[in-house]
Amino acid sequence: MISFVGTANPGFAPYAMEELRRRIPGSRVSGLAPGETFAFTSGDLETDQLVKELRRKEPIFLRHIFPIDAEVPCTDSSEQTADALRRYADSLGGRVKGRKAAIQVRKAQGSPFSYSSSEARDIVAEVVRELGGEPVPREADWIISVYASNRTIYMGCSQPKDNLSDWPGGAVRFRREEGLISRAAFKLLEAEREFNLPLDRFTNALDLGAAPGGWTSVLLERGMKVTAVDPADMDPSLELHPRLRHLKRNAADLSFPPGSFDLLVCDMSWDPYHTSRLVSALAPVLTAGGSGIITLKLMYRKPFQSIQELSKAYSESFEIRKIKQLFHNREEVTMWVKRKP
Ligand SMILES: C[S@@+](CC[C@H](N)C(=O)[O-])C[C@H]1O[C@@H](n2cnc3c(N)ncnc32)[C@H](O)[C@@H]1O
Repeated sequence: MISFVGTANPGFAPYAMEELRRRIPGSRVSGLAPGETFAFTSGDLETDQLVKELRRKEPIFLRHIFPIDAEVPCTDSSEQTADALRRYADSLGGRVKGRKAAIQVRKAQGSPFSYSSSEARDIVAEVVRELGGEPVPREADWIISVYASNRTIYMGCSQPKDNLSDWPGGAVRFRREEGLISRAAFKLLEAEREFNLPLDRFTNALDLGAAPGGWTSVLLERGMKVTAVDPADMDPSLELHPRLRHLKRNAADLSFPPGSFDLLVCDMSWDPYHTSRLVSALAPVLTAGGSGIITLKLMYRKPFQSIQELSKAYSESFEIRKIKQLFHNREEVTMWVKRKP
C-alpha cells in the first residue's frame, strides 16, 4: 500500500480527506499541517488505479497529490537534511537521466526544515544534473516533490498528470500584470486552465456581478464582446472600451433574446441559492451548448450539502461538466456548465 501527500485550500483539508474516504475504499487519512496538508494511503487500490480513479472524476477539494517514495525525520540539521535530499535524488538514477525534472519543495509553517525552498531545490537540482537530467521549472517529464512537515520530510517522484496539478501543491501562480483590476481575475484565468476551456473560442459573453471588472477585462482581452451586469461601477479603465456594454442593473431584472451569448460567467457575491435561480432563469440567453463559469459561494459551512443542492438546481437547465475548488477560490468553488440542448 503506497501513501500520498494531499493538499487542499487552507481550511478545506477536512473536506478533501472526506472525499478520499468516500472514494478510495480502505484509505487511511491523517493530517500533516492543519487544514491544508495530509497523508493518505491507497487503500484497496493499486497506485495507478487510484490515480486513474481520481483523474476520472476529480475530487472538488483535493488540489494536489504526490506519492511518497521516501520519508526521513525532519530535523534542524542542515547536513542531515542535505544528505537526505541528495540520497533520495540519487536513488532516481535512470528515471531522470536524459529527462526534464521539475523540483518542487514545500514546507509546513513551523517545520524545522533548515533550508528555504529554493536552497533545497538547488541541492536536488545538482544531483539531477549529475545523473544526466535537466532541472526545469515547468513542462517537465517528472516532478520531484519534497514536503517537510513538522516531523517528517516526504519525498516522491511522479509524472505531472498524476499530481492533479503540475504546480507545487497545486498553487497556480499568474504573473501580476500591471494595472490588474482585481485579484478576482485570477479565478477566471485559473478556471480557463482547470477546465481546459480556452476562452478565446467564445465571441459574446454575459458577465453577471461584473464590477469592478477583473473577469470582464480577461474576457475583453480574449477578444469577446462583453455585456457586464452590476449596479456597482466598473473600473474607469474599462468604461470606454468599444466591446463593453455595462448595464448598471440587478441581474434579476434582466431579459435578453434567446441565444444572445455563447458564454455566461457569474461571480456574484450573493446567496448561492438565489444566484442559482437567477442564473437558471437566464439559461435561455445562452446558445445551445454554450458554456457557463459560475462561482458557488459556500456560505453555510456545509460544503457537500450546498454543492449537492446547488448541483441539483443547476442541472435542470445545465449539464454540469466540472466543479472544483480553485487555488484562487476562498469560501467558494467554481463550476463549469453547458446549457442543455
Ligand atoms: C466579487 S464581486 C465580482 C468581482 C468581479 N468578478 C471582478 O472580477 O472584478 C461581486 C459583485 O456582484 C455584484 N452583485 C451582487 N448581487 C448582484 C445582482 N443581483 N445583480 C448584479 N450584480 C450583483 C456586486 O455588486 C459585486 O460587484
